[in-house]
Amino acid sequence: MILGINGQNHDASMALIDQESIVWAAHAERYSRVKNDRSINQYMVDEMYTYGDPKYAVWFERPFSKSMRKLFSGERPWWCDPKEELKRVGLGHLKLEKVGHHESHAAAGFYTSNFDDAAILVVDAIGEWDTVSMWHGSAYGLKKLWNLTYPSSIGLFYTAFTQYLGLKPNEEEYILMGMAALGKPILVEQIKKDFFYEFEPPFLEMKHNLHRGCRFWETPSYANKFDVAASVQSIMEEYLLGAVKNLKLRVQSDNLIFMGGCALNCVANSRIAQESGFKNVWVMPNPGDAGSAIGAVAALECKKLEWLGPYLGSNINRSLDIEGVVNELIAGKVVAVANGRAEFGPRALGNRSLLCDPRGPDAKARMNTLKRREEFRPFAPAVLEEHAANYFDMVVSTSPYMQFIMNCKYPTIFPGICHYDNTSRVQTVNYADNPNFRAILELWYEKTGCPMLMNTSLNVKGEPLVNTLEDAKRWEQLNGVKVF
Ligand SMILES: [Fe+2]
Repeated sequence: MILGINGQNHDASMALIDQESIVWAAHAERYSRVKNDRSINQYMVDEMYTYGDPKYAVWFERPFSKSMRKLFSGERPWWCDPKEELKRVGLGHLKLEKVGHHESHAAAGFYTSNFDDAAILVVDAIGEWDTVSMWHGSAYGLKKLWNLTYPSSIGLFYTAFTQYLGLKPNEEEYILMGMAALGKPILVEQIKKDFFYEFEPPFLEMKHNLHRGCRFWETPSYANKFDVAASVQSIMEEYLLGAVKNLKLRVQSDNLIFMGGCALNCVANSRIAQESGFKNVWVMPNPGDAGSAIGAVAALECKKLEWLGPYLGSNINRSLDIEGVVNELIAGKVVAVANGRAEFGPRALGNRSLLCDPRGPDAKARMNTLKRREEFRPFAPAVLEEHAANYFDMVVSTSPYMQFIMNCKYPTIFPGICHYDNTSRVQTVNYADNPNFRAILELWYEKTGCPMLMNTSLNVKGEPLVNTLEDAKRWEQLNGVKVF
């Protein structure tokens, strides 16, 4: 068994791999209850040992290279000794390997995909030095084709504007993406002029080092913060589409894999799925740094992993009262489900979820009160897979991990799951994906004729997802909502 570790990095995580099987994978924050916790902890190590006893560990990133880049960029001195980190949580006896940041992203995507041959694009804020990289994955392994290095970074640009808009960088980029639908991209040319010497995707040359943010920039008086978000999102989409089309010229394949933190941008993902020219697109459901706990092992082993889904974390092992859940939903209540293995990745996909009836004008307000989050943000629908095309213009045939947005055909019937532009971040559900969640949806459909539910994460704003049964009970007491 091999232990993959993403530590001393935002959203620390670990994954245990046995041959081709991903036995367990989890985020540190779910155990420490510190959102996006940077450090692995003893609680998760103790749980890891209930799944197996690794003989060696693989560290995601090369610390020396990363510290050199931080020195170069004038950030505060940084040095991480992975061996010391392992010792701190009782893993100092493990033999330790290290693999590169972008190589791990590429490997997490390729070796969890069902493609034998694929073009791979990795885009994030920054690895050790790389900010964008292109790869070809085949039977011969991963071959790096091209890279862009710091300080040129479209991801850092997006993160800087996340901070500029008063949001948390490296955490709330998805809110900027949501804000974009409320504005107009009227600042695209101005922002390009102010921030880029050259913008020829995949090539970029930046005018500023955005590690320090972009608070020096002033929004023109004729625009508001939503216009800024719309413009930044538009630039991101233009860059990603340009990069993907360039990659298509380098690799003759029908298959595209998109990885790195920027692959969490589901609006851009949808455009890539529709406009890139690739027939098939795989975005591993945890494409950012946390997912590279798996990627680090995959990069070292260079062999396919069996991908059975993202339900890889803590287990709440109890039977689920399907009828009870549906009865509460029919009574118009919000219902919490904490059952089975926790999701490895940022989305709650039925095992740590809050559910409610998506129909009618009140659904969103009911959920928002509970979640204490911004009024403009919609919730996602989970829909029986075979009914999805009746309600949404599908840009991909199935979307089990909420990675793409689709136009909703009936926004007035389902306003709570539609954004201002009438799009929805759809989760399609089949039996193989999640039998229990499928059973809830089937019974709900049988009793109401509606094949979808509103699905959001079982937490409140700023907190990690509920992880254990104890968390679930505490959440139930605090919020007065029954957890099944
Ligand atoms: Fe990354």
